[in-house]
Amino acid sequence: MAYNLLKGKKGIIFGALDEKSIAWKVALKAKEEGAEFTLTNAPIALRMGVINQLAESCGAEIIPADATSLEDLENLFTKSMEILGGKIDFVLHSIGMSPNVRKNKAYGDLNYDWFLKTLDISGLSFHKVMQVAEKMDAMNEWGSILALSYIAAQRTFPDYSDMAQAKAVLESIARSYGYRFAKSKNVRVNTISQSPTKTTAGTGVGGFDAFFDYADKMSPLGNASSEDCANYIITMFSDFTRMVTMQNLMHDGGFSSSGITEDLIEELRK
Ligand SMILES: NC(=O)c1ccc[n+]([C@@H]2O[C@H](COP(=O)([O-])OP(=O)(O)OC[C@H]3O[C@@H](n4cnc5c(N)ncnc54)[C@H](O)[C@@H]3O)[C@@H](O)[C@H]2O)c1
Repeated sequence: MAYNLLKGKKGIIFGALDEKSIAWKVALKAKEEGAEFTLTNAPIALRMGVINQLAESCGAEIIPADATSLEDLENLFTKSMEILGGKIDFVLHSIGMSPNVRKNKAYGDLNYDWFLKTLDISGLSFHKVMQVAEKMDAMNEWGSILALSYIAAQRTFPDYSDMAQAKAVLESIARSYGYRFAKSKNVRVNTISQSPTKTTAGTGVGGFDAFFDYADKMSPLGNASSEDCANYIITMFSDFTRMVTMQNLMHDGGFSSSGITEDLIEELRK
């Protein structure tokens, strides 16, 4: 059921790779709720072509942008404002990639050039998106900017490797830029810390199936699905959350507040 929560709002959605992507689900929901938006991803990801199906069903245009390139981001905001006919109300940063994780490098044997790439793609790009938006005065008053994070920013999950540092940077940027954007434009900036989710980025982390099941048993409500995540994100883009800013919001079925659960005890006793 749709509630027209985003009627009249204009946005930019980063990171829809295929139909499993969290950003893909957000795009479908945002459309359902009355938003107009552009879709963007790294040129290399667009070559797969799957995103065209999403663009068609949402009536959205695709603008290629490597989120680490200021030039690409400037072009993205310029074109988005042209296409949508005005400034932007919401931005979703749904981007993550670590060459060290992808190539199975042990945490004690990281390639530092790749580490810097991880930080740039998965952390700094969030700052770049906001700096470009601010310099171009591309955001509307009371806009909402969101990025997706993971609890490995606060607690150690060995296979998450250097992505843990990238998420810590991401969450810190949300606080620092959230302060700045609140003062200048009443724009709110938050991160949502999502349960493990079966997507390309998620399943690329070693031991994913085991920690997916562990998290499911450790969460009184179970793992939050990507559909649930999309619903939460829509509320964060709506006018019902205008005073929420500079937060890392846990969307994890209760995982982060649980010490142990009966489900897990039962599993361990087996
Ligand atoms: N899947 C999980 O378990 C999980 C849990 C918590 C948080 N997250 C976060 O959710 C976000 C979305 O990931 P997902 O799970 O939907 O996986 P996904 O693989 O579908 O999405 C990741 C996206 O990042 C894009 N990307 C990579 N490098 C880029 C670049 N240089 N410029 C622009 N885009 C680039 C990819 O093309 C892809 O579309 C990520 O930030 C991820 O860390 C995922």
